[in-house]
Amino acid sequence: MRYIPFIMIMLLLGACAYNNEEDLYPGGSGACDTSRVTFSEDVFPIIDNNCLPCHGGSSPPLGIDLTDYSGIRQAADDGSLLGAIKHQSGYSPMPKDAPQLPECQIATVEAWIKDGMPDN
Ligand code: HEC
Repeated sequence: MRYIPFIMIMLLLGACAYNNEEDLYPGGSGACDTSRVTFSEDVFPIIDNNCLPCHGGSSPPLGIDLTDYSGIRQAADDGSLLGAIKHQSGYSPMPKDAPQLPECQIATVEAWIKDGMPDN
């Protein structure tokens, strides 16, 4: 139920969603644009697609629940989110047992964190 508003926004903003896809999958039409990163349109879809299969259940690994802003923010705050997706030493590389995220998606998450993790 909690995803319905998000889905409606994506439908209403079809054109924006299309642009957003270009941000997430560079190579089609140009550079990786991280200048206008938002949580709902940029960061959450990356987590949703790549992390929630494991970090969204009723007992997520290490208690790291990434289903909503507060859980994602918590992991971003303590450095583990970026450490894990950048495959930094000291962190378990994520997504687990899958290729590293495309560079632009990592840059998107990093830009959002640098921006102060806005819930927008
Ligand atoms: C296939 C299941 C799976 C997927 C997909 C997955 N994780 Fe994990 N994650 C785990 C498990 C299991 C652990 C516990 C540590 C371990 O076993 O490596 C973990 C641990 C973590 C940690 C703690 C790492 C540390 O060393 O402190 C973070 C942060 C994390 N995951 C974030 C993510 C993010 C972000 C994504 C998506 C990009 C993701 N995970 C995708 C299963 C998964």
